[in-house]
Amino acid sequence: MARRSSYALRLALAFAVVALVAAGLTAMLVNLAFGQQFGAYLSAQQQAEGHRIVSELSSSYLAERGWNQAALQPVGAAAAMEGVDLTIENGHGQMLWPTTTIASSGMAAMDRAMMGSGKFGAAVHLPISVDGRVVGTAVVAFSGGSQSGADSALRGSVDRLAALAALIATLVALGVGTLLARRVTGPVRTLTTAAKGLAGGDWSARVDSLRTDEFGEMARAFDHMAETLSEEDSLRRTFIADVAHELRTPLAVVRAELEEIEDGLIPLDPAALASFAEEIERLCRLVGDLETLALADAAGFSLHLELQSLAPVVEGAVNGFAGTAQAKGVPIGLHLDEDALAEIDGTRMAQVVANLVSNALKFTPTGGRVDLRLHQIGGFAMLEVTDTGPGIPPQDLGHVFERFWRGGAPHAGGSGIGLAVVRELVEAHGGQVDVTSEFGKGTAFTVRLPQAGSPLQGAVTEQTASVTPIS
Ligand SMILES: Nc1ncnc2c1ncn2[C@@H]1O[C@H](COP(=O)(O)OP(=O)(O)O)[C@@H](O)[C@H]1O
Ligand SMILES: [Mg+2]
Repeated sequence: MARRSSYALRLALAFAVVALVAAGLTAMLVNLAFGQQFGAYLSAQQQAEGHRIVSELSSSYLAERGWNQAALQPVGAAAAMEGVDLTIENGHGQMLWPTTTIASSGMAAMDRAMMGSGKFGAAVHLPISVDGRVVGTAVVAFSGGSQSGADSALRGSVDRLAALAALIATLVALGVGTLLARRVTGPVRTLTTAAKGLAGGDWSARVDSLRTDEFGEMARAFDHMAETLSEEDSLRRTFIADVAHELRTPLAVVRAELEEIEDGLIPLDPAALASFAEEIERLCRLVGDLETLALADAAGFSLHLELQSLAPVVEGAVNGFAGTAQAKGVPIGLHLDEDALAEIDGTRMAQVVANLVSNALKFTPTGGRVDLRLHQIGGFAMLEVTDTGPGIPPQDLGHVFERFWRGGAPHAGGSGIGLAVVRELVEAHGGQVDVTSEFGKGTAFTVRLPQAGSPLQGAVTEQTASVTPIS
């Protein structure tokens, strides 16, 4: 727990430290400003006191027409009561006050003790003048310098208040920091739990955050990734099940026939051998198709792309079907723009054309025709393969590119992999394949290939079959 919430703890502590520093700094500045103000106030007061003493002394000198030690006594006593260390000298530097008796009486010392500080600031020499003539000097020193008792008491209370403020600020910062940290680490922890669940095979693990901030965005990105992963996982499972199913059918037929021969129910004659050969042929074709599909799957990583004219590639692929077309009585028309360029892997693109043409020939009855048109449109090459065959029912259009999907036409042969391969390869080229069909009239497959590696994003039209998720 301590380890898991270490980030929260660090964040809360950082908050507390900031609060503490702020409070400390404030206390320091207040102290400083306060000290300066108080010092100024104090020295003004001391100056006034000095003036008052000097003017009283000059009054006494005037009244007594000279220095009279007895007359100085009230001034000296008052000064002592005020906590001022006062020494009076006459014009010749002889001490008039304190008189030796008073000085030794310890009264001054007592006063100093009463003031509590016992410390006096630096003595100041103030001349006493009468009628413009200096008649003596008052030497004054104020107790406690600028640090009088009142001053330090005030400072003390300011410091105590500052300490209290720092304590409260620190506690508030700790509280707020902890709350904030929880809000930060909470979603991180939820995400970690979900990620662990996903890693452990729980495909339903989601974060489901309703937050609108960056954490919500992170949670949604995770959920999206989890969604994609679990979809791919279920596709993989379906695919494996489909492959197993496709393999089982011919194997079951062969096994059943073998058992019948063993039981002597049917003879091992050329007809039986031909049936075996047919089933084995089917198996070979299926395995071959699977191989092609695997290659198409990996095509994205192994394409040898080259900017080239598409026409020769199309022609080469179609040539292979000349015999079949003639035998079936379905002519193939070529309308190729020799200038149509695309960045393609020639071998793979020939495979795409062959799959499309083989379907068109297979499904178009005698008397119909197949046409290939190649144009250059903007930044891409467009190849259309149209036939006058039976067409594809609208409800099937969305399925033709799925792996192992075959239309209802009975005994049409094939494993339903041809168009899946077409789509894999075209998309690996950054292109797009679409199908449109008018049931009973014919079908048109359209392949668009970018000229220079710019994927045809967003070029999808309404009736595209390829909007169905990958097979
Ligand atoms: N030109 C076409 N005309 C009519 N239907 C077609 C055409 N091309 C494909 N289809 C339908 O799409 C299905 C899938 O085609 P494909 O993936 O090539 O598999 P296969 O050719 O092995 O049946 C076909 O079984 C067929 O129903
Ligand atoms: Mg096919």
